[in-house]
Amino acid sequence: MVLRDSTSRPCHVLRRYLAGAALVILAGCAGAYLPQPDSEDAHFFSLRCGVCHVPPHPKRHTMAEWHHLLELMDVRMEERGMAPPDDEARQRIIDYLERNAR
Ligand code: HEC
Repeated sequence: MVLRDSTSRPCHVLRRYLAGAALVILAGCAGAYLPQPDSEDAHFFSLRCGVCHVPPHPKRHTMAEWHHLLELMDVRMEERGMAPPDDEARQRIIDYLERNAR
């Protein structure tokens, strides 16, 4: 019994950890907590802004702050050899943020 307990426990912990991680990843991918979660814009936003971190909620910042942050994120993308969003993609992100920013 003691042996069984000590072997099943790590699995239990691992299972709980994996379930938690899967939840975070799913929430991040689906952007379920974002405004209009089923809209194409929310999808696009979480696709473009969820590569390096979980996509941030638009309410976290004012539009003025977002403009500054988007420039900063361009630099972060360039640093990692990633192409920053082109004009069309950028406008789409800005439109989505404008509708939902603080
Ligand atoms: C190439 C990776 C990458 C991508 C893509 C990216 N970010 Fe970031 N982001 C970062 C890093 C790294 C940080 C940590 C803070 C820093 O280094 O500036 C960060 C931090 C942030 C923060 C927190 C800033 C703070 O301190 O409050 C916000 C908000 C944010 N990103 C928004 C966005 C948005 C919106 C997009 C999509 C346009 C985006 N990010 C795409 C790398 C990225």
